[in-house]
Amino acid sequence: MDAPALRSPLGQSLPHESAHLHVSGRAAYTDDIPEPVGTLHAALGLSPVAHGRWLGIDLDALRALAGVVAVYTAADFPGPNDCGAIVHDEPILAEPPSAAGPGTLRYLGQPVFAVIATDRMAARRAAAHAKQVLRIEPLPAVLDVRAAHTAGDYVVPPMHLSRSHHPGGVAGAIHGAAHRLEGRFSLGGQEQFYLEGQIALALPQDDGGLLVHCSTQHPSEMQAVVAHALALPTHQVQVMCRRMGGGFGGKESQSAPFACVAALAAQRLERPVKLRLDRDDDFLITGRRHGFEFDWEVGFDAEGRIQGLDVSLIGHAGHSADLSGPVLTRALCHIDNAYWLPNVALNGYMARTHTQSNTAFRGFGGPQGALLTEVVLDHIARHLGLDALAVRQANWYGVETQNVTPYGQTVRDNVIAPLTAQLIDQSAYHARRAALQAFNDASPILKKGLALTPVKFGIAFNVNHFNQAGALVHVYQDGSVLVNHGGTEMGQGVNTKVAQVVAHELGLPLSRVRCSATDTSKVANTSATAASTGSDLNGKAAQDAARQITQRLAQLAADLWGGAVRAEQVRFAGGAVRAEQVRFAGGAVHGPDGQSIAFSALVQKAYVARVQLWSDGFYATPGLSWDRSTLSGHPFHYFAYGAAVSEVLLDTLTGEWRLLRSDLLHDVGRSLNPAIDIGQIEGGFIQGMGWLTSEELVWHPRSGALLTHAPSTYKIPTANDAPAVWHTALFDNANVEDSIHRSKAVGEPPLLLAFSVFLALRDAVAACGPAGCQPPLRAPATPEALLMAVEAVQAQRNATAAA
Ligand code: MTE
Ligand code: MOS
Repeated sequence: MDAPALRSPLGQSLPHESAHLHVSGRAAYTDDIPEPVGTLHAALGLSPVAHGRWLGIDLDALRALAGVVAVYTAADFPGPNDCGAIVHDEPILAEPPSAAGPGTLRYLGQPVFAVIATDRMAARRAAAHAKQVLRIEPLPAVLDVRAAHTAGDYVVPPMHLSRSHHPGGVAGAIHGAAHRLEGRFSLGGQEQFYLEGQIALALPQDDGGLLVHCSTQHPSEMQAVVAHALALPTHQVQVMCRRMGGGFGGKESQSAPFACVAALAAQRLERPVKLRLDRDDDFLITGRRHGFEFDWEVGFDAEGRIQGLDVSLIGHAGHSADLSGPVLTRALCHIDNAYWLPNVALNGYMARTHTQSNTAFRGFGGPQGALLTEVVLDHIARHLGLDALAVRQANWYGVETQNVTPYGQTVRDNVIAPLTAQLIDQSAYHARRAALQAFNDASPILKKGLALTPVKFGIAFNVNHFNQAGALVHVYQDGSVLVNHGGTEMGQGVNTKVAQVVAHELGLPLSRVRCSATDTSKVANTSATAASTGSDLNGKAAQDAARQITQRLAQLAADLWGGAVRAEQVRFAGGAVRAEQVRFAGGAVHGPDGQSIAFSALVQKAYVARVQLWSDGFYATPGLSWDRSTLSGHPFHYFAYGAAVSEVLLDTLTGEWRLLRSDLLHDVGRSLNPAIDIGQIEGGFIQGMGWLTSEELVWHPRSGALLTHAPSTYKIPTANDAPAVWHTALFDNANVEDSIHRSKAVGEPPLLLAFSVFLALRDAVAACGPAGCQPPLRAPATPEALLMAVEAVQAQRNATAAA
C-alpha cells in the first residue's frame, strides 16, 4: 500500500493559523474593518459618582456640542434596558429618571448616556461633559466587601456546600483534630487587560436588520441581548467576530453594553456606528476577576493531614450579578484542588458594592478557591515544621478510595502523584531545598524561597446545557475546505486546533483547511468560548461534520473502485470495495487494495455525481449532571492536572524580588498541538503570576474611583518578569474520557501553576522570621505587601530573641 505522502497534522506543533498575520501586523481586528462611508462614532458619558440619584440631564447642551449627531439614554431603547447575563439586574445604560422618580447611578464609571458624533474625538469630547450635564444627588457608597457582607447585601443567594464523614460533623472533625489553626486571607481581583479593548461596529442591513461586528467570546449572547434591547426578532441580528486581541473572560458577558449601544444608534440613525473604548474607560466601565476575602479554620493531624476545613468565601461582586453565581460555584468546586477533604464546610457569598460588576477571568473562580487551600496547607506545614511539599503529598486525593470531591464527583483520572513525582525529579526539588536553606542561613538581606504547588481543574461548564457545540464544514470543488464553528478565536488557537481535527478527518494538509469568522448566521445558539472548552466542544462538532462528508465520499470511492463506475484517475484493482475500507490520508483517498485518488479529484467526481459536499455537525458532552440546590453532581467531564516548582530571590530591604527558576509540568492529555499548548501553559502561568504579585486594584476609599485604570498605575508582567530559568513540559497522559482525540483543555488550568510563585515568596518572607512563623502575606504580593510581611515576621523574631 502507498505510504501517505503527508503526516496527519494532528498532534503536530504547527504555527497558529494567524501567527504570520499577528507578527506582521496584518491580523484584522474589529477596528481594522474598513469603515463604510458615513460611519458615526459613539462614546459613553460615565457616572461621576459611585452611588447617587440621577435627577436629570441637559441633553440640549450635549446636542449643541461640535460634531454631535445624537444623544441617547436608556429611555431610547425600544426593548428592555437590560443586559444581565443570567440575572436580569443589569442596565445597559443607567436607569434614567422618569415619572416614577429619579434614576439610579450604581458605580463611578457606569455608562449613563451615549453620544453619537461625526468622529471619535468629537464623541469623546462631548461625553466628557458628563459631570456638567448630569444633575445628581450623591448617596453614600458601599465600597468595602466585608462591609457589604456584614450588611448581608449579595447579588446572588449565598451558597453552602458541606460534606462530612465525622460523627461530630465538620466542627467535630476540626475540634477533634490534634492541631487547629484559623486565619483570614485577602486575595485581590485582576483586570483582563486584553490588548484589544471592547469594541462594536453596527451596520444597518436590509429591512431593519443589523450586522454587528463585535469583539466578543459570546456572539450568540450578543445577538440575543441586542435583539432584546432593540425589540427585534433574533433572526434580524447577525453578530460576527473574526478574532479578538484577547478576551480572558472579559468579553464573555461584558461585550454586551457596547454591542447594544452601537446597535441602538445604528438602528435609530440608519447609519453605521462604531463604539471603541479608550483603555481608561474600559477599566472604569467593565469588571474583572473577583477578589475574595476568606475566613478559614482547619483541623489536622501530626502529618498535616486535613481532618476538617471550614471556609467562608466572600467574593467581591460589584453592582450586579453578571456571572458571579457560576464564578462562586466554581470557586466552591475548586477549594479541594488536588486534595481529599473528608470533612468540609464552605459558605460562599457574593457581596454587592458600588463598583464595576466583576465577571469571568481565566479560571472563573477556580483559582481563587484553590489558592485558599494552598495557603492553608502552607500554614499547616509551617506550624508543624514540615516541608510544605510533604504536607501536600500527605493530602493527595486517593486513586481507589478517598477520591470523592466535596460536591460528590468521583475523581477517576487522578495522576497528581506520578505527575508530581516526575516534576520533583526533573526540578531537583529536594537538593535545591537543602541548598536554599544553606543560602538563607548565610544571607541576612537576600532570602530565597521555593514552593511546589499542584493543579487539578475541572473541565466543562457547570451549567449542563452550555456543554454543546455546532459546526459547518464546506468542501469546495477544488478540494479546499472552509470550517465554521461556534468557538471564537482570542489568540488561544481554537481555530488552528479545529482545522487540524478537520484536516485529519479529510486526510488533508492543514493548508487546505481554513476557519472563517464566527458568525451567528452560520451556527446558531452557540455557547461562550469559555471554561476552556472551545476545542473540546467545537473540535468534536467539526469532527462530526467532517465524518459525514468522508462517509459520503468513501461510499462514492467504494462505488468507483467496486467497478460500478470507471474513471481515468482511478486505479482499478478489481473486487468489491466497502466504504469502511476507504482511508483519507496524505491529500488522497485510498482503497484497501492500493487504489488511490487525489482528494480534489474525488471531490470533483462527487460534485458531478451530486453528492453533498458540506455538512453540519453537533456535539453534546456526555455524562454530566449538576444539582444547583444541593451543589452536587458530576459537573466535570474530566480533570486537567499540573504542577509547578518556583524559586524566588527576595530583597528584604525593598520587597523587590526575582523569579530565579520555574519548572512547569502540565497535563494536556494527548496534545492536539504541543506548540500551542505550551504557549497556553506559559501564558497562563505568567498571567497568574501577575495576578498574585504585581497587578493591584485600588479604589479611592471615599469617592469609589478606580485609581489603577491604566498601565501607568496597573502593572501587568512583561517579558523581563519571566523566570530566568524556565522549563515547561507536557505530562504524557491520554485522557481517559473520550475527548477530542484524547486531548485535554488547556486554556485556564495552567494559570493555577502560578501559585508556586506566591508560595515561594511566602517561603522567602518566612525565612526572615522565627521558626514556625506565619507571614501575613496578602495577594497580590506586591513589593509593598512583601515588605510589610517581612517587617511583621522580623518583629516576631526580635520579640522571640528578646524574650
Ligand atoms: N489565550 C489567549 N491568547 N487569549 C485569551 O483571551 N483566554 C483564556 C484561554 N486562553 C485567552 C487565552 C480563557 S479565559 C479561556 S476560557 C480559554 O482560553 C478559551 O478558549 P478555549 O476554550 O478554546 O481554550
Ligand atoms: Mo474563560 S474565564 O472561561 O472566558
